[in-house]
Amino acid sequence: MTEDRNRPIGVFDSGLGGLTVLRALHRRLPCEDLVYFGDTARVPYGTKGARTVRDFARQDAGLLVGLGVKLVVVACNTASAFALDHLQQILPVPVLGVIEPGVDAALRASRGGPVGVIGTPGTIGSGRYQEGLAQGLPGLPGLSPDRILVGECPLLVPLVEAGWVEHPATDMILETYLEPLRTGGVDTLILGCTHYPLLKGQIARHMGPDVALVDSAESLALAAETLLADLDLRRRDGLTGGERPSGSLEFHLSDIPWKFAEIGARFLGKPITDVRTVSLEEMEAAGRL
Ligand code: DGL
Repeated sequence: MTEDRNRPIGVFDSGLGGLTVLRALHRRLPCEDLVYFGDTARVPYGTKGARTVRDFARQDAGLLVGLGVKLVVVACNTASAFALDHLQQILPVPVLGVIEPGVDAALRASRGGPVGVIGTPGTIGSGRYQEGLAQGLPGLPGLSPDRILVGECPLLVPLVEAGWVEHPATDMILETYLEPLRTGGVDTLILGCTHYPLLKGQIARHMGPDVALVDSAESLALAAETLLADLDLRRRDGLTGGERPSGSLEFHLSDIPWKFAEIGARFLGKPITDVRTVSLEEMEAAGRL
């Protein structure tokens, strides 16, 4: 239905990291309207337990469904790891997470492995990347478990949120986290957290030029494009020759954090305007949708 096609795409993350995914979606699907929710009052999710993350994710997604979105994108690896199946069962709209697109891109980029994954303790502890890489995907054979190396990087999210991207302390921490993956000989490294693309240059320096870095934002945007086309949910007025060159971007946050304008603009690649705040009471109500 035309009405359904013209609804926005909803994107959520625990905080601002998902803006890297929003940016990729906006680039690939420029005519689509995008609504972003960042749970900035409760970030980080990456060090919380599975049940808490699942409850938060249900509220985040419920909020987007209440705003009338046609697709929910879980732009957070931790929430994708703990809540994607649950959201796919309970939501009335399709839901995409970042893990499968990341696995797909890594299996394509790898020259046989080993493949490395870095992420939050929650994402790595869930084993979802390890399962996905071992199983493979249609046309892409999986890897034997000894060809999959993982690293938990709990300190990277706060460093990125603090804007310490080019800081010597971040460099030292990166060296500690990445050294086992580098010496393990990985040929591909999945940046399994939507905050890490901000550190891509630094990570590339530590890993060396022969290691392919996979940022699942691009693969997710491609998966979203394919899914919307398959479901006949793409806007028609923006396709080639259409009249709608650029869709709108709308932002909802559960808190306006420290240095939000500066850090948010760094993630999105341009200033963030039109921000609305959502109370935790509204979040709880959204989870009951
Ligand atoms: N952006 C989240 C992810 O991709 C991590 C941030 C957090 O710990 O909340 O996992």
